[in-house]
Amino acid sequence: MKSSLTPTLSRGTGEGVERDHLAPVFAQFPIEVVSAEGVYLTTRDGRRILDLYGGHAVAALGYGHPRWLEALERQAHRVLFQTNAVAMEVRTRAADRLVSFCGLGLDTVFFVNSGAEANENALKMAFKVTGRSHIAALEGGFHGRTAAAGAVTWGAKDKWYGFPRTPFDVSFIARGGFASITEQVTRRTAAVIVEPVQGLAGAVDLGREFLAALRARCNEVGAMLIFDEVQCGMGRTGQPFAANMYGVTPDMITTAKALGSGFPCSALLLCDAVAGELKLDALGTTFGAGPMACAVIEAVIDVIESENLLANVRARADEIRASCVTGPVIGTQGAGFLMGLRTRRPAKEVQAELLRHDILAGTASDPNIVRLLPAFTLGSTHVAQLAAILAKLPP
Ligand SMILES: Cc1ncc(COP(=O)(O)O)c(C=O)c1O
Repeated sequence: MKSSLTPTLSRGTGEGVERDHLAPVFAQFPIEVVSAEGVYLTTRDGRRILDLYGGHAVAALGYGHPRWLEALERQAHRVLFQTNAVAMEVRTRAADRLVSFCGLGLDTVFFVNSGAEANENALKMAFKVTGRSHIAALEGGFHGRTAAAGAVTWGAKDKWYGFPRTPFDVSFIARGGFASITEQVTRRTAAVIVEPVQGLAGAVDLGREFLAALRARCNEVGAMLIFDEVQCGMGRTGQPFAANMYGVTPDMITTAKALGSGFPCSALLLCDAVAGELKLDALGTTFGAGPMACAVIEAVIDVIESENLLANVRARADEIRASCVTGPVIGTQGAGFLMGLRTRRPAKEVQAELLRHDILAGTASDPNIVRLLPAFTLGSTHVAQLAAILAKLPP
């Protein structure tokens, strides 16, 4: 469970204990959202809430962006679905756009549906290419809930993994521990999987030096380097990918969330050496690369580029760093719009107070981090609104 306030079996409106039929596995914020526009949510009881959380980092263009809506509507009218068994120009265009947006020479794209699924496929490719059976992951990393993605997620086994055993050998590298890289990444390691800026851990920027050391060790022992940019990719750091920001190129990148900005989709980008191992039927999916997802992906990249949103992310993130260390906030961390506000008091308290003042923010596994994952379209006035509320909160 992520960034939540109260576990509940009822709807989050304060309407009482009305029982619904949804699996009771999610804690919920005490609001019920009925509509949204731009960076604001409207609740059933008429509140207008500034959304700095974006549905776990998904709503990168905010809500109701005309280009996003138009792309989806146009494609729905044209052809709403065909699988990869049928050639479609919109799919080829989406892959072209994504490869050039990334610009790192990871020139083959496999589109799937969720972050976990992209990671499963990345790990599968690493096993295939290397013929090895060990994965090194990072302390604090989160990679998803499926068998393989959960196996490489820090702490999952003790908390929620649920499968009787992990499907391969996994060990964890200490965050920032250079000696630990040498210990954990060896000639039996198929891949290192890492979020360059860890999301759920609390916007933890692993830094150029550490990522470069991972790259160097992978080269030395013949292991693949996988960047899980499901949360930090697609512009969230203010660069196309964190890989661009650090100047460290992995063998594979997985991405999702902002990729569809609300339409469920994900992608695995592969370098030529890995893509060269692909054969017919090596990977598969029914829904992945559906035309509606592809139309949206194209539109999202178009909007990020034409509206100069990477520059906006960098500028507004600078403003947050400059103006929001106030009230209970004693510092900031992370990169771009994967931003952690370090709080003197428990972050959950601050999160609840912000929500009472109509600002939605997240938390993280670090109990003193309020996590901000706003839309890339956020403006200075919204930053000022956050700063003003934080300044009013008890330190
Ligand atoms: C870094 C990272 N990887 C993987 C995932 C899993 O993505 P999904 O929930 O779409 O399977 C998440 C989700 O929060 C994530 O933040």
